[in-house]
Amino acid sequence: MKASNLIKLVGILLIFISFGSCTKTKTITETLTEIVNDTIIETRTDTLTLHLDPALVAEGKQIFRYDTFGDEAFWSDILHLDKAILGETNGGYGEGVSPATALAVGLKVDSEALPSQLVDAIQAGEVDLNDPATTIALLQFDAVVGVKGTFDETGNMIAVGINCALCHSTVDNSFSEGIGKRLDGYPNRDLNVGGIVNLTDNKKFLADLLHVDEPTVEAVLTGWGPGKFNAGLFVDGIALDPNGKIAANLIPAAYGLQGVNLATYTGWGDMVYWNAFVANLEMHGQGNFTDSRLNNATQFPIAAENNFGAISNDPDLISPKLPALQAYQLSLNAPIPEEGSFDANAAARGKALFNGKADCASCHIAPMFTDAGYNLHSAEEIGIDDFEAKRSPTGMYRTTPLRGLFARMKGGFYHDGRFATLQEVIDHYDAHFALELSTEEKTDLVAYLKSI
Ligand code: HEC
Ligand code: HEC
Repeated sequence: MKASNLIKLVGILLIFISFGSCTKTKTITETLTEIVNDTIIETRTDTLTLHLDPALVAEGKQIFRYDTFGDEAFWSDILHLDKAILGETNGGYGEGVSPATALAVGLKVDSEALPSQLVDAIQAGEVDLNDPATTIALLQFDAVVGVKGTFDETGNMIAVGINCALCHSTVDNSFSEGIGKRLDGYPNRDLNVGGIVNLTDNKKFLADLLHVDEPTVEAVLTGWGPGKFNAGLFVDGIALDPNGKIAANLIPAAYGLQGVNLATYTGWGDMVYWNAFVANLEMHGQGNFTDSRLNNATQFPIAAENNFGAISNDPDLISPKLPALQAYQLSLNAPIPEEGSFDANAAARGKALFNGKADCASCHIAPMFTDAGYNLHSAEEIGIDDFEAKRSPTGMYRTTPLRGLFARMKGGFYHDGRFATLQEVIDHYDAHFALELSTEEKTDLVAYLKSI
């Protein structure tokens, strides 16, 4: 090697090293091969590289896991869920929420937050998992994923709030079912959000907001079921689908969103837009939020009536946190399926079909597996009803980013979980697009979907 080239190489290496030391670099590389009649006609490599500031990512992780944005004003001051958790014996109302009850409604416990004596005591069977006082102790250690307790100096719990991790994290069950290390970005498909809200002794507030009676509120919350939530309810008041069934959408993955334009099943806005929406309007944190589309009283009667399209709070506990929250979400790469969890040969054949005969890649483009650009399609185009699409300002469905599908197999597929299995999704596309896939080809496509 010539000396000048060597110097160049050292220079390039130094640039890389200095980059590595001040930024966190994530690279996703995907090679797309287009095969027609067994002949490779095109191979190209798509690379997505993100440079994230590690300090901002770390800050965002704290916010995602522990920040309530002041939403105690809703969950405690209005819904009194702190009192529901405490139970009558501890100064609240009702039976209280024991760890056993908490786990049964899908709440998860972060084993890494537990002190070793407590871990030993649980393992020795010395901890009463049927006593709400144990839940309060877990909250004191910040160990209940997504729920944050506030305590006074004498250790009494005086409020609870929720954070993003409630719905968008789960645990790896490494300690026991429902107890383990946090997995941020994984949707908690066990979480019964409606069941938790139903613990309130103030359904009147929700009934008044939605202009229905309290039994209706209770029935709707009961009807969502595990892993689902109706995010549109508090802006449009629509609780039922056209068939009279209680409407709710699956909690989606919050990982694998790098390079994805519009977020949510119906593309309400980008990820940053939606973060502000959900922190203000769903969690009821204290922030600022602007969206004049919500002033449309025909489509969004509840939002228009309550001026949800122009929220302001002083101090604003949400907006200053949006950059860090975004950085953390972008750092959440989709999990990679374990080798052996799918048939690799079938997946390779499935990949060729995905990019070729089945034409899935015309919308689900690697490496994001959603469209590049305006990633929305009409209901007609994908062959389903437009009920949920029409509830969004876009009127369309967003192409779901497919990475890490294997880690969210519970609850079904498509926004409302209408297809129970990936096989059913493929059958739907096969019929709708007249793909004429053979049984083997369908199996191969399923194997590919499990591999991405
Ligand atoms: C009560 C459960 C719940 C909480 C808490 C929650 N989310 Fe969500 N999130 C959902 C549901 C359900 C959707 C799907 C909404 C839809 O499309 O109908 C969603 C959608 C999203 C999406 C879009 C994902 C995609 O595929 O485009 C992002 C991003 C997101 N949430 C981030 C957050 C952040 C950040 C927080 C905290 C500020 C948060 N969420 C709090 C339930 C929740
Ligand atoms: C015209 C664009 C388009 C094409 C072509 C397309 N999809 Fe989709 N796909 C979508 C949209 C939009 C959704 C979201 C539907 C919903 O949530 O209701 C989706 C959802 C999915 C889901 C569900 C993901 C989840 O987490 O719920 C899977 C799996 C999927 N597509 C696989 C495929 C496969 C396999 C093909 C090829 C046979 C394909 N798609 C072709 C647009 C498309």
